[in-house]
This record gives sequence, C-alpha cells and structure tokens, in this order.
Amino acid sequence: MGLIPHQTPVIPVVSWHEQVESLAKIETGTMKKIILTIIIVLVIQALALFIFIFSGAYNVSTSNHDSGFVNWWLATSATRSVKHHARGIRVPQLDNPAMVQEGFKHFNEMCVECHGAPGKPPGEIAKGLWPPAPDLSMAASDWTPAQLFWITKNGIKFSAMPGWGTTHSDEKIWAMTAFIEKLSKLSAADYHQMETNTVGGEPSHEH
Ligand code: HEC
Repeated sequence: MGLIPHQTPVIPVVSWHEQVESLAKIETGTMKKIILTIIIVLVIQALALFIFIFSGAYNVSTSNHDSGFVNWWLATSATRSVKHHARGIRVPQLDNPAMVQEGFKHFNEMCVECHGAPGKPPGEIAKGLWPPAPDLSMAASDWTPAQLFWITKNGIKFSAMPGWGTTHSDEKIWAMTAFIEKLSKLSAADYHQMETNTVGGEPSHEH
C-alpha cells in the first residue's frame, strides 16, 4: 500500500560469526584505551573515597541522622548478616514459664534502659543513640527465635547493641529469647506484675 511496487524492504541478515568478526576488528589499540580509561576512573574513585575519609568531612556524631544510602547500607548489612549467621542454630523449647521468668529478670535489668518495656519508657541513654534502639515488642514477629538469640548473644556492630554472649551463657540468652517471644502479649499491668513478683522473690538477675 504505502510501498512503491517492486520495492520490498531489505532486512540485512548478519550471521553470528560475522558479528564476532566485526567485533574482533576493533583495533587492539582501541581496546587498550578503553581498559586504561576504566582503570583511571576506578583509581580516581578510590582516591576520592580516601580523601573523603581522611578529610574528616563525614560527621560521626549521633545527632547526624543519616538518611538514604548510609542508613540502607548499615540496616541491610545488619539484617542480611543476622539471617546468614543464625542459620543452623538449634532452638530449644522456649514455651516454659520458669525460663520466661528468668529471661524477664535479665531483660528488666539489662535491656529496658535502651529498649523500654510495656509501661516503661526507655531511659536517657536511649535518647542519645543513633541508630535508635527499637521497641522490642514487635521483635518476635520480625525475627525468628534463632535470630533473636544470635542478636542478643553477639550484638550489632556499628550500633549501641551490645553482645551479651561475653558475660552470659547460652542458657541465659535463650531465657531472654523466650521472654522476648512473649513480649508482644504483655500489657503494662502484666509487666508490672512480673516486676512485683520478682522483687518479692529473687531480687536480681544472676550470671
Ligand atoms: C546500650 C543500649 C542497648 C542495650 C542496653 C540493649 N540494646 Fe538491643 N539494640 C540497641 C540498638 C541501638 C539496636 C538497633 C541496632 C540497629 O539498628 O542496627 C538494638 C537492637 C536489638 C535487637 C534487634 C531489634 C530489631 O527489631 O531490629 C534485639 C532483638 C535486641 N536489641 C535485644 C536486646 C536485648 C535482649 C537486650 C538486653 C539483654 C538489649 N538489646 C540491650 C541498643 C541496646
């Protein structure tokens, strides 16, 4: 219709070996130039990174709340690392009231200052943290028991989360994990009741 009769469009047929041949025709000199340019760009980027680090321009203050890339980098590294390292950890029976009570004692003495608890806001330390210490009542839905155990035992580098494995046995850390598993179901009144029971019985947590 639109075409003039006898003028059929010609689609050039280029076989794969012709394409390879034409690629091979790029002179060796041109290839060398491309590789050299890539190396120079990489060296300039590495130098720029070193200059940035040594200049002190990056603000390490906790009041400098990073956004974007730095936040993504730290949060993604932490999440991926925890998931990777917690693989293969065997989880003991956690639904044990004595174990939950034991975990509560540790939690109440060591974790509330930063993370808070039902009816108990975090203390002054928490206000000066970046990244912040999250409310742990939702932690059991975000992490598996093995991952909670791993975080509590090893801590999270580049944040204020300590590794409690240097001072506490695995048994105690499983008890804390058992308590965190119950945390989402505890009201402020329940938590207060547990505190009263503990003060009435055994006064403080033991290592
Ligand atoms: C000195 C402050 C501090 C104390 C004390 C502390 N934590 Fe943390 N914790 C943090 C911070 C900060 C983070 C967030 C780390 C991050 O964002 O990478 C965190 C993260 C966590 C997480 C991961 C939470 C999530 O949803 O991502 C768990 C679980 C946790 N802490 C458990 C505990 C337990 C259990 C204790 C007590 C035995 C404890 N922490 C004591 C500061 C603290």
